[in-house]
Amino acid sequence: MEKRVALITGANRGIGFAAAKQLLGLGYQVLLSGRDPEAVERAAAEIGAVPLVLDVTRAEAAEAAVRFVKERFGRLDALVNNAGVLLDEGVRGLEVPVEAVARTFEVNVYGALRLAQAFAPMMVAQRYGRIVNVSSIMGSLAHAGSGYLAYRSSKAALNMVTRVLAAELEGTGVLVNAVHPGWVRTRMGGPAAPLSPEEGARVLVWAATLPEDGPTGGFFEGEGKPLSW
Ligand SMILES: NC(=O)c1ccc[n+]([C@@H]2O[C@H](COP(=O)([O-])OP(=O)(O)OC[C@H]3O[C@@H](n4cnc5c(N)ncnc54)[C@H](OP(=O)(O)O)[C@@H]3O)[C@@H](O)[C@H]2O)c1
Repeated sequence: MEKRVALITGANRGIGFAAAKQLLGLGYQVLLSGRDPEAVERAAAEIGAVPLVLDVTRAEAAEAAVRFVKERFGRLDALVNNAGVLLDEGVRGLEVPVEAVARTFEVNVYGALRLAQAFAPMMVAQRYGRIVNVSSIMGSLAHAGSGYLAYRSSKAALNMVTRVLAAELEGTGVLVNAVHPGWVRTRMGGPAAPLSPEEGARVLVWAATLPEDGPTGGFFEGEGKPLSW
């Protein structure tokens, strides 16, 4: 069989970069994407991935990515919507500028949705696809508390995007899930986090490589442990 193809957003560093390495190790061809051309080129060269400049906030970038993938590989088996921003650390919801909430949604929600919409038709046509939305326990309504209003709301919205797309893609061979990597030592997670990027990436890779009878429309941590919404 031909090698499977995966595209990961925001993969020039952090959890996305670790997921790229792991998928390469499983024999996937990996499109390592990110918004900064130099960072993308460097990261892709380091591990032997295919670099792709892709700023998820630009609508035309998703269409360009589909064209590139079609021409270069003819298929996409896994889309990992990993790119994310946290812009309201240490700011109360009562004071967070609404503009910061909107900028957070641009990346964390609309970026992921744009790419899922762009690549779903190709996946449906080939009757195989895995869409992984990298969410967070911070987006869980059940676990909600004070602060991080922009980030939490964006991940809660991403969880709903996951549910709706999973329902609409039911029976097509395309599985859509949201995952929480845990608290991970990255620029976003900070140095005190207990997990390495490699450990955090495992659940992304698990969801990107699910078998035919794997779950869809779920929210998971670890390697398949369900999380409450
Ligand atoms: N770290 C944690 O503890 C933790 C916990 C739960 C969930 N998560 C989620 O895991 C994912 C990865 O986070 P991380 O910890 O690896 O964070 P990170 O090290 O800050 O990496 C974030 C990545 O997203 C990219 N990005 C930001 N805006 C983008 C845009 N407009 N277009 C394309 N790429 C963009 C960044 O690119 P640049 O290098 O150009 O900035 C970077 O590659 C995020 O969705 C995050 O919310 C993380």
